[in-house]
Amino acid sequence: MARITIADSDLAFDCGPDDSLLRAGLRVNLNLPYECNVGSCGTCKFELVSGEIKVFSDTAPGLSDRDRKKGRQLACQCLPLSDCVMKVRLEEGAPAKFPPKRLKVKLIKVTDVTHDIREFQFQAVSPATFIPGQYAMLQLPGVSGERAYSMSNLPNDDGVWAFMIRRVPQGLGTQVLFDALTLGDEIGLDGPFGKAYFRSESERDLVCVAGGSGLAPMLSIARAWSQKSKSGEEHLTFFYGGREPRDICGEEMLQQLPEFNHQLQFIPSVSGAVSDATNLWPGRTGFIHEVMHGFEDLDYANSDFYIAGPPVMTQAVMDFLRESHAVPQERIYFDRFF
Ligand SMILES: Cc1cc2nc3c(=O)[nH]c(=O)nc-3n(C[C@H](O)[C@H](O)[C@H](O)COP(=O)(O)OP(=O)(O)OC[C@H]3O[C@@H](n4cnc5c(N)ncnc54)[C@H](O)[C@@H]3O)c2cc1C
Ligand code: FES
Repeated sequence: MARITIADSDLAFDCGPDDSLLRAGLRVNLNLPYECNVGSCGTCKFELVSGEIKVFSDTAPGLSDRDRKKGRQLACQCLPLSDCVMKVRLEEGAPAKFPPKRLKVKLIKVTDVTHDIREFQFQAVSPATFIPGQYAMLQLPGVSGERAYSMSNLPNDDGVWAFMIRRVPQGLGTQVLFDALTLGDEIGLDGPFGKAYFRSESERDLVCVAGGSGLAPMLSIARAWSQKSKSGEEHLTFFYGGREPRDICGEEMLQQLPEFNHQLQFIPSVSGAVSDATNLWPGRTGFIHEVMHGFEDLDYANSDFYIAGPPVMTQAVMDFLRESHAVPQERIYFDRFF
């Protein structure tokens, strides 16, 4: 066990042999900056003032050459080999409600959602505690490194964790999930993580933007929004982007919410070529930020925006919100699926 101290503060925490500096700090409720947990976003950068660390990957995209020259590290990619002092600026505000915990969960159900997305349900022996919009890290047999997946269901006392996962060609983790795991198999789950969770106290309208398997956290948020008490005036607009018509999903699940087609609108769009007769698409086409541009029903000044999916889509939507409508950063919550 190593003792980690935050420089220029009286804060310190213990880090076990299997934890990154980031996860160990989050477990004791420190408000460390982070987003992806997998070395890609760069949000968890810090300076190592003293101590020895082992780095999971020397080529993590979250660090630039300049960062490496300056000796910066990623807290999500470091194991301590001794006591350490790290220089990092903690984020303001309260940390997320539930510090992450390691659990064992059993696969209990698999359902096809589209040609390449499946819902995987896992059972834990304790309640599933998280805030809609958050994600968990799954430890899959024979796969080195854990993978991040967002919960698609609501927190529950039954201990069910549901994920919507897209098969990635040649992807090591998804290959195990889709082709090797069978019902009853046990895996490790660590969570919850993520700061793009539903702020239920907000009285503004809600805009959810999902691309691909970004459906999962947006569905969880839409379900939570549906359950909260409302005046009857609030609206949720749910944009969903896929490449081809067969990628489009989510409507059936949203239809189960009582607000569907009244306070809740589903706007799907296809961005790729719609060429042959088996692939006909009567709806909107184009990237989601383009569809938003032509969609006049949004109240940009009075909405919260949640975005999940591929990094390029997330970036394009954020640029559009900031540049075309001056939406302030504090009303945009996002998770990029690296
Ligand atoms: C916050 C977040 C939420 C996500 N939510 C979802 C979701 O709800 N649904 C979904 O389908 N996808 C989601 N993803 C993407 C998902 O985590 C995987 O990247 C994707 O499923 C591909 O995994 P793979 O193992 O099949 O592919 P691979 O190409 O084998 O691996 C994908 C990624 O895993 C990491 N990785 C690979 N090897 C190692 C290693 N040895 N050690 C550590 N890390 C390694 C790398 O970041 C790599 O880019 C999310 C990603 C993030 C960051
Ligand atoms: S949280 Fe460490 S790089 Fe994204």
